[in-house]
Amino acid sequence: MQSLIAGNWKMFKTVREAELFARRLVAELDIPPGREVVIAPAFPALCAVAAALRGSAIKLAAQNVHDQAQGAFTGEVSAGMLIDAGCEYVIIGHSERRTFPGETDDLIGRKLLAALAQGLRPILCIGETLAEREQGATFTVITGQIKEGLKNVALGDIGDAVIAYEPVWAIGTGKTATPEQAQEVHAFIRNTIEDAYGKELAGKLRIIYGGSVNSGNIGKLMSEKDINGALVGGASLDIESFSAIVKY
Ligand code: 13P
Repeated sequence: MQSLIAGNWKMFKTVREAELFARRLVAELDIPPGREVVIAPAFPALCAVAAALRGSAIKLAAQNVHDQAQGAFTGEVSAGMLIDAGCEYVIIGHSERRTFPGETDDLIGRKLLAALAQGLRPILCIGETLAEREQGATFTVITGQIKEGLKNVALGDIGDAVIAYEPVWAIGTGKTATPEQAQEVHAFIRNTIEDAYGKELAGKLRIIYGGSVNSGNIGKLMSEKDINGALVGGASLDIESFSAIVKY
């Protein structure tokens, strides 16, 4: 299984900054074998970054997608448009989208289907808040998010998806889950997928960790059996730190 290191740039970087970053990454980054690298700029920079990445092994992701193929949805972007712009992946259900625009598990599930229908590979984000963890509700929350998010995903499509476990309390806080805490939830996620889709598919599904990942903690996280990569926020904005994470 290839591990996946994805940089989520959130609402940072102008088109020019994003393009220059991508050009430098292509020129300077030696990707170790068995690793896949993805960057997710904001919508306006997608085309420029796609052009900069062309011919390289680095792949492009969007940070959001609409659940309809087209229509009168002002301000929205469809999966087909993202494919057209050069994306291979899309982040769906990030906790910041669950919190701020208030995306529900049901909507997230529809977005996932819309992405898969166009051949866009979804990175489904799930994770509990601090209050939920303290109440001992982590596994209940995770189960609900997986069941709803993947509700109508066919057996043949599940392999194209990636699940990102991002405990909300670890995002942007500098408080990473310990490798043991992350592994515990990753193993639980894999078991949940196994129950729904069988052992073989569960064994192939990539489950990546996100939440204050940096060049200092990535090695230990990646040494855990069920951690198959990372979704990196803040530390992906700097080329040296992102490159060091890719080469953990
Ligand atoms: P940080 O790495 O900044 O904590 O963000 C994680 C994240 O939300 C990635 O999607």
